[in-house]
Amino acid sequence: METAESAMPGAIISGTLSPPALGVWQHRHVLDIDDFRKEEIELVFEIADAMAEVLTREVKQVPTLRGKTIVTMFYEASTRTRASFELAAKSLSAGTVSLDAARSSVSKGESLVDNLRTIQALGADVIIMRHPQSGAPYLATQYLDTAIINAGDGWHAHPSQALLDLYTIRRHLGDISKLRIAVIGDIMHSRVARSNIWGMSTMGATVVLCGPPTLIPRGLGEFIEHCQLSRVVVEPKLESALEGADVVMLLRLQLERQQSGLLPSIREYIQRYQLTGRRLSLAKPYALVMHPGPVNEGIEVSPEIAHGAHSVIEEQVSNGVAIRMALLYLVAGGKSR
Ligand code: CP
Repeated sequence: METAESAMPGAIISGTLSPPALGVWQHRHVLDIDDFRKEEIELVFEIADAMAEVLTREVKQVPTLRGKTIVTMFYEASTRTRASFELAAKSLSAGTVSLDAARSSVSKGESLVDNLRTIQALGADVIIMRHPQSGAPYLATQYLDTAIINAGDGWHAHPSQALLDLYTIRRHLGDISKLRIAVIGDIMHSRVARSNIWGMSTMGATVVLCGPPTLIPRGLGEFIEHCQLSRVVVEPKLESALEGADVVMLLRLQLERQQSGLLPSIREYIQRYQLTGRRLSLAKPYALVMHPGPVNEGIEVSPEIAHGAHSVIEEQVSNGVAIRMALLYLVAGGKSR
């Protein structure tokens, strides 16, 4: 019979994740990974490996966070992030409340901070929030004691997405520090790109950023220099960016931005930047094709490549549950105080 202890993720009860190992974790909140050290990212991966094992079981649930309450507050649309945080919380036996923030009292004029304080007063141990304004989760941490996980804020950051992307890369290719990763598309509006630039740099990868000049943030070169991100380069030519890449990460072309005249046309984007089989052949023979989703199939990537042998797009989604279980364990399990 399965006891509460035998149902715990193996590495967490076996002693391989002992208090000293967990001691490397320094965060009360997860707002971005720009302040994560390499050891912390590796700790998240190690716990995610244990959580991934739980997710292979017939009963995909352990009592790790029994008695804790996790609330998701999404002020912007989401499928993957919201569902996977909820599944992660349920797999750890936490109580979950999922609020469609568009229907919350914010729509009646309540401020964001008061809205979140109300959730705190109801007993939330962790609030997972997505908001269209960059910085909203940072504001929340100034007024709340509850731990906050940023599930995407404006153009700024999407830390759990970057961690699941890095985890997926590591599972396939091992040591990330040896890799050349091409990030292609709408860099300017992408919170996924921003968080990944920090994470990939911390792990020692070479990061090649490529996209239409109007979708590369002005001043990016100076920013890279200022932050001493010596392995991050901007490459205007797609073919040069793809040459020898171990990983090709595509970004969603944010079609809503088309209204603002940043691209001549979708057709031109497809002609110049879509990942096709011919273009992918410039990368390493084993190159991974990634996309955080949602995918505009036939725009950023041709259908045969999106569903082909190189694609790990669906695996990214699946890995998101284990990574988010690891983050909830670290933030709600009392290891960060
Ligand atoms: N990648 C991502 O954030 O997807 P969702 O918007 O569906 O959560």
